[in-house]
Amino acid sequence: MQKWVVICWAVLAVVGADVCPDGGLCKEGETCCNSPENGYGCCRYENAECCDDHIHCCPAGTVCNKALSGCINTTLTIPWVKRTPADQPKLCKSFRMIKAYESQEDDNICPDLSRCPAEFSCLKGLTKFACCPLTQGISCPDGKHCCPEGHDCSSDSRACIKKELVVTVLCSDGVSECPDGTTCCETTEGKWACCPLPKAVCCADKIHCCSEGTTCDVEHSKCIHSSTKKEMPMWAKLPARVRAAWENQKGHKFLLTVFL
Ligand SMILES: *[C@@H]1O[C@H](CO)[C@@H](O)[C@H](O)[C@H]1NC(C)=O
Repeated sequence: MQKWVVICWAVLAVVGADVCPDGGLCKEGETCCNSPENGYGCCRYENAECCDDHIHCCPAGTVCNKALSGCINTTLTIPWVKRTPADQPKLCKSFRMIKAYESQEDDNICPDLSRCPAEFSCLKGLTKFACCPLTQGISCPDGKHCCPEGHDCSSDSRACIKKELVVTVLCSDGVSECPDGTTCCETTEGKWACCPLPKAVCCADKIHCCSEGTTCDVEHSKCIHSSTKKEMPMWAKLPARVRAAWENQKGHKFLLTVFL
């Protein structure tokens, strides 16, 4: 059995990036524009209009006009802009699956009774089962490739993108974040803090919080259950972590490269 060595890299450079369908990266607020030869390019406008010369793009709400080399709508004519190449991160190539086969050997038996070699996983392809050369794989949309569990396939099924591992709750100011399973509550200073309960009730004193299904009795520092009227203790909040300017909701992406 061949050994498959999987190495993960944390690619910090992609913080705040948008992933194009081929795994290429554009900056936040940019748009991925498809080019037949070079994969994807990035347009500096959000929701941009990608011109069909595959070189230029225009802002949302305008259309490309080749004769004017510009972007026009009823009120505006501006020069069009060139796209920049999308960054190509070291994405992991997805694995090619092999057909499941019939044999008498005691290999992996797929649900349709076809078989895969030991250490492969049986995955549903487009019509039949296929064998992914990973013990725990997921099949990609093309039905021919697969990725390790915990990854998403890129939309062209050629690359594997590691799923976000750290889950945080982003508060309404867009920069404060709380650990998963907590709730953002506003503080007396108008900032955000984390209530150590999911779906908590933020109290009007902006200091405490109560668990779901209770109301705050700020005067007596109690949480009162809405139906049973049982009293429960109030919770103090934890400080929220404030994201640095270079961070972004999409956070760090951990990408994967595979050597055979
Ligand atoms: C023309 O385009 C500009 C720039 O995107 C946009 O702000 C404006 O709303 C558009 N005007 C119309 C009439 O669509």
